[in-house]
Amino acid sequence: MSQRKIAVAIDGPAGAGKSTIARAVAAELGFIYVDTGALYRAVGLYGLRKNADTASADQMLPLLEEIKVELAYVEGEQRVLLNGEDVSQAIRVNEASMAASNVSAIPGVRSFLFDLQKNMAKTHNVVMDGRDIGTVVLPEAQVKIFLTATPEERATRRYNELLEKGQKVDFDQLLAEVKQRDYNDSHRATAPLKQAEDAVLVDTTGLDKEQSIEKILDLVRSKL
Ligand code: DC
Repeated sequence: MSQRKIAVAIDGPAGAGKSTIARAVAAELGFIYVDTGALYRAVGLYGLRKNADTASADQMLPLLEEIKVELAYVEGEQRVLLNGEDVSQAIRVNEASMAASNVSAIPGVRSFLFDLQKNMAKTHNVVMDGRDIGTVVLPEAQVKIFLTATPEERATRRYNELLEKGQKVDFDQLLAEVKQRDYNDSHRATAPLKQAEDAVLVDTTGLDKEQSIEKILDLVRSKL
């Protein structure tokens, strides 16, 4: 009989620091880090490539029959495969963010990606981040964290990140996009972004990366 696996679920809005923190926590614990947003991005990217309206279920659902999404790990880093092609970089462009947000509101897309996420947690100890991990995908997770920060703080982090990459963008527009995505993610009918009843709320506003990681690690250790 296989041993019961351990799951740490980290949910929260875009830019709260989920991926940075989840990756570091997974490395520290020797668990696999599963970035579920990347799966929605891969589906969104496929829609963009097919010139589909990514917000339209009628257009997106037939496309799912042409898609195979897989996760692979190369030197501990998650790679997302779309029909065998490594799209880990391609899914990070700004248009893919909006496309991902659009397709993630389509129930058929969510169920399409459900088994893949579930199976990862069945076969590995995971730190999984997303929007509905503690509520829908892994309600049985031993540790659930709802990570947040103010929209201004999250937009500032994104602004600095882009600046470091040499991209100068308009701060007010970034802030507007952050708020728009928050609204979309928390108001959709299926699996909206919301804190699970048994999740611990952690606000990273004013904390730097190291402080946030330390805080979450303390919390995880106290629960396991
Ligand atoms: O975390 P991210 O920005 O890469 O996620 C991309 C989009 O996918 C985001 O708008 C919300 C959606 N998403 C979701 O609905 N459920 C998840 N478990 C993960 C992401």
